[in-house]
Amino acid sequence: MAVQHKVSDIGLAEWGRKTIDIAENEMPGLMYLREKYGASQTLSGARIGVCMSVTIQTAVLVETLTALGARVRLCSCNPMSSQDHAAAALAAAGIPTFAWKGETEEEFRWCITQAINFGEENPMNMIMDDGGELTGITMITRPDIWAEIKGISEETATGIHRLDKLNRSGELHIPAINVNYSVTKSKFDNLYGCRESLVDGIKRATDIMIAGKVAVVAGFGDVGKGCAQSLRAFGARIIVTEVDPIAALQAAMEGYKVTTMAEAVKEGHIFVTATGCINIITEEHLLNMKPMAILCNIGHFDVEVDWKYIKNNCDIIQINSNCDLCQLPNGNKVVVLGKGRIVNLTCAQGHPSFVMSTSFTNQVLAQVELWTKTYSPGVHLLPRIQDEEVARCHLEKLGISLDTLSSEQAAYINIDPNGPYKPDYYRY
Ligand code: NAD
Ligand code: ADE
Repeated sequence: MAVQHKVSDIGLAEWGRKTIDIAENEMPGLMYLREKYGASQTLSGARIGVCMSVTIQTAVLVETLTALGARVRLCSCNPMSSQDHAAAALAAAGIPTFAWKGETEEEFRWCITQAINFGEENPMNMIMDDGGELTGITMITRPDIWAEIKGISEETATGIHRLDKLNRSGELHIPAINVNYSVTKSKFDNLYGCRESLVDGIKRATDIMIAGKVAVVAGFGDVGKGCAQSLRAFGARIIVTEVDPIAALQAAMEGYKVTTMAEAVKEGHIFVTATGCINIITEEHLLNMKPMAILCNIGHFDVEVDWKYIKNNCDIIQINSNCDLCQLPNGNKVVVLGKGRIVNLTCAQGHPSFVMSTSFTNQVLAQVELWTKTYSPGVHLLPRIQDEEVARCHLEKLGISLDTLSSEQAAYINIDPNGPYKPDYYRY
């Protein structure tokens, strides 16, 4: 029999539960799906391995899946991003949960293995992933289960890179839904979520004044755009680094300075990496930075700031659990947040509930699609009409009313007045 939970402190369950109750009120999309699909138990028979930052918002997601009839086993997609009261509340409610803040690499992998392990007779048959670790570990360690998975829903840009790679090499024989590319995911969570939670992480770790500083944002995708916007709103002067000429031009049109990282290090006081790519801030950059520059990463994995170099070559003084003062071999000092891990979840509480409701409503819809319909192997998007449904079920909470197209107007622009209002390829 598989272990049923491992969390930091089950005594935190009551606090977690009260916080979940408040979050439900801010997650109208998930509550709407409980109403819509709860009675029919649409996910009955689904045994979903969920690998997601185990936060209060994820707790509301998981309890929505179980309200729809699914069984869930849960682990975190990042060793530092769990909230222990959320994990405790889920474990106390009988949901097999394997997650705590501060897992070692070995424990992190063990937790993922536990999430996979539904037992021999009724194995995991669905995957909900954030970053591709559960998918990758299942594929490598459990070929018996891998062959029978009915579908994968993937949350984030980094996981999509991995799925696309598997698909191109012919190894993805399973249908997957790219949740990140729903407009109501990437244009909301990545943008507006990071716009609130980046600065939250920086402030909790450092208490630094942002106004007047030069802030360097590496990567001007959806996450970088949100980060740059909030830093500017606080009064920082922004420099963007990019490799994509279109994104670089967008940053310039926003009024940001755009240059290379080699140049930006001479000016920056605060550095934020948001690329999903490796080696963005390297030894050479570190040695040439202004003294006491603050460095953090908001991309999914800790591969953007070279923490390994820092760990092996610097004198490190821990200021608090999320802030290290690092003296480089040339005497220069820099401040690194969250050891280069995802700063909004490591140093703060991640995105607020409302924006996670838009993301997670897409996640649940993706599971319902994959479980109830037959998709071909490969990476798919949710139909645009469902993207609009996600937006629609969040409007009332904000007191928003919509105009409706008259039949003449609909005919004039040649669309069905019942939607979708935009074609699938349209990006906002
Ligand atoms: P994106 O693809 O929209 O943007 C990434 C940008 O980085 C692109 O414009 C790309 O051209 C640029 N880039 C790539 N390599 C670069 C390099 N070497 N130098 C400079 N720029 C480079 O992706 P996104 O949705 O913005 O996500 C970025 C990362 O953040 C991913 O790892 C994603 O998984 C993660 N993410 C984190 C959170 C969070 O809450 N912390 C939320 C959403 C996404
Ligand atoms: N990613 C960013 N914020 C998050 C949150 N609050 N919960 C789960 N995943 C997240």
